[in-house]
Amino acid sequence: MSEQVLVRVTAGVMTVAFNRPEKKNALTDAMYGAVADALDRAVTDDAIRVVLFRAEGDSFCAGNDIGDFMQIAMGGGGGGNVFRVLKGLGQFPKPVVAAVKGSAVGIGTTMLLHCDLAYVADDARLSTPFVNLALAPEAASTILLPAQIGHRRAFAMFALGEVVSGRQAADWGLVNAALPAAQVDEAAAKAAAELARRAPRSLQLTKKLMRDGAALWAQMERENEAFGSQLTSPEAREAFSAFIERRPADFSRIA
Ligand code: COA
Repeated sequence: MSEQVLVRVTAGVMTVAFNRPEKKNALTDAMYGAVADALDRAVTDDAIRVVLFRAEGDSFCAGNDIGDFMQIAMGGGGGGNVFRVLKGLGQFPKPVVAAVKGSAVGIGTTMLLHCDLAYVADDARLSTPFVNLALAPEAASTILLPAQIGHRRAFAMFALGEVVSGRQAADWGLVNAALPAAQVDEAAAKAAAELARRAPRSLQLTKKLMRDGAALWAQMERENEAFGSQLTSPEAREAFSAFIERRPADFSRIA
């Protein structure tokens, strides 16, 4: 288990904490692997009734590690565990809760679409800048995000990289509540503990009836195809280089 993902189980709640604060909790393949292992364990272990995602440091998650993206873009291979996480979350049978403070970028935001309860800091910054990186959206967010906030708001997030505050996300119904940052972890932990005390089969049936896991995975597969082909494209290589070199990307010469 990677130390960059901390997993502990207390009173029926498995807490999965991102712990790479110096990189704003950008997720590496090893970290995805640790999250996927935790989700697999939570599915089969009857002692685990709820999963709670939270993070150490001032950012929830800066999305996929862009160095990892660059490695794939340059033909170096890698990756794979992200798909385990996406599939695991899309079909996860038990309730999932999230506590979000600071930035939640890319999968840091799209994973919230698979959380049954989400509590965010009112000054949290949610974004899905896939087009900024010349990529395509993932995690079935192309269905779930417009369904939750409407096509135009979702398109502005995907295509213009518009950043949504926690307060705005709560107003749009994307999360349960926006709170002062200092109260977020406690509110999420309280909700998770409350769920862990409830009838487990009833909870799981309720969730199953509310989500079509097979349809979500089918959409993820379509998205993964688009994402995968973009990852090795010249425009994505330019976007990743620009991030690493801390300069704006220049797509003017892309055919
Ligand atoms: N992959 C790899 N490293 C990342 C990262 C990512 N997704 N996000 C942040 N980091 C690293 C930075 O390179 C920097 O490393 P350094 O200290 O070695 O230079 C460190 O984390 C701190 O990031 P910084 O940008 O200085 O912090 P900030 O508070 O100014 O901004 C973010 C935080 C999250 C808004 C900003 O880092 C960001 O936009 N990251 C990229 C997010 C992204 O596009 N993710 C992919 C989505 S598909």
